[in-house]
Amino acid sequence: MGELSAKIRVDSELISGSVDNRMFGSFVEHLGRAIYGGVYQPDHASADESGFRTDVLDLVKDLRVPIIRYPGGNYVSAYKWEDAVGPVGQRPRRMDLAWKAVEPNTVGLDEFYRWAKKAGSDVMMALNLGTRGIEEARNFVEYCNHPGGLYWSDLRRAHGREEPYNFRVWCLGNEMDGPWQIGCKTADEYGKLAGEVAKALKLFDPTLELVVCGSSGPGMPTFPQWEATVLEYCYEHVDYISLHTYARKDGDSLSAFLAESVRFENFIKAVESTVQFVKAKKRSRKDVKISVDEWNVWYHSIGKESDDDLWQVGRRLLEDVYTVEDALVVGCFLIVLLRHAATVRMACLAQLVNTIAPILADKEGPAWKQTIYYPFLHCSLYARGEVLDTRIESPGYETEVYGFVPYIDGVAIHRPDAREIAFFSVNRHETDTVRALVKLAGFSGLSVIEHVVISDRDPLASNTREAPDRVSPGKDASTKCDGEVLRASLAPLSWNMIRVSYRDCARN
Ligand code: AHR
Repeated sequence: MGELSAKIRVDSELISGSVDNRMFGSFVEHLGRAIYGGVYQPDHASADESGFRTDVLDLVKDLRVPIIRYPGGNYVSAYKWEDAVGPVGQRPRRMDLAWKAVEPNTVGLDEFYRWAKKAGSDVMMALNLGTRGIEEARNFVEYCNHPGGLYWSDLRRAHGREEPYNFRVWCLGNEMDGPWQIGCKTADEYGKLAGEVAKALKLFDPTLELVVCGSSGPGMPTFPQWEATVLEYCYEHVDYISLHTYARKDGDSLSAFLAESVRFENFIKAVESTVQFVKAKKRSRKDVKISVDEWNVWYHSIGKESDDDLWQVGRRLLEDVYTVEDALVVGCFLIVLLRHAATVRMACLAQLVNTIAPILADKEGPAWKQTIYYPFLHCSLYARGEVLDTRIESPGYETEVYGFVPYIDGVAIHRPDAREIAFFSVNRHETDTVRALVKLAGFSGLSVIEHVVISDRDPLASNTREAPDRVSPGKDASTKCDGEVLRASLAPLSWNMIRVSYRDCARN
């Protein structure tokens, strides 16, 4: 084992953005056991009076998720919202073609809204622009957001919900560039439709925040022309363009897997540039922002699903069991998101419970935290602040696809109210500790509050029902401040959160 070093520099006056609370959003889809067997399971020992699992709810609440995208995903592209409202006993059972399951509509709009409120979250509502269009979208928005006195809003009141739900954020479809999507479209077809739906929704309420679909991933053959074409149709009517990305490990190459965040960052940069291109072309004064409304690691379950439970409610699908390596990649993605906080204003970890999720829930047994729960938790709790421009000089390694990749990536967040700086960092080195010298220019009276670490002698270790705490954060007590410099040892293959308090900040 050797010891390498990295120099990191931040300055209290160099702020690259502020983190929107909605950066720590998540996603719950009618998919697999996310709803039936995750959020909702009336026969479970922990179920409350509404059938919601309180063990799951408690773990969600601790994550402090401000907004949850719903109800899909691929599911939304054939979603008939009218099936999901009104008396539960009268709702139809439907075939869900996206996931080859049965949707009983037992959990519908009102039930999910009430669950989200219990979790302390708002709902980011997605519209079906796969099989439906302007007419259904405007009716749905009236049902959800209008106080009353009109047909659809009165129907909501007749269904027992007097006050409007008042959903602020609406996604204009899902992954409409994807050939797997029901009702997928060309960029021209989708851009025109999304622009018209957006126009109608803004006529109803100009303060609604609308998200138009960008590419389903940087590997899509239509990327990035898709973004340019779609935005040309609807630039003035929308507020965000979405970006989806999932990291996967191909074969055994851990170093390539850990570099997936470089691919993610290049994707964001290309979308940022495309937005600027269309803005310039339109002579617009407005900046469309980015919503990374699906992101995660997803590969363990791919190709391993069984057909035994086809066309059943709550099929077991996409139940990735995450490792320490996966937690590091999630950490790297969080660092990228924070670095781009000026343009990425919303993001949703996909998903929340059971399906590619930080929380797994056993049918008869408990719910527990997966490895990826922790980096998300750390950032959700301590990264809501100002992003300090973080300059890193680190040794690294060569990759075939991305060239040089530094071992150390990181970002510092300043929370003036708490008089705290949190430095989030990943060491990608597989065997060596990296000594980090972080110069925090402009801050004085520094003192380490805690250095929280996730690392393990077995990078493939994961948490299971039998060993739910096999991987959990530890502490490094050796981290010290010396004048303006923070000195820390970043263990091989580790995720780190170092919180530092200060007495004075030069800017104040
Ligand atoms: O999150 C799982 C699926 O991934 C979503 O349904 C879809 O939008 C994406 O392809």
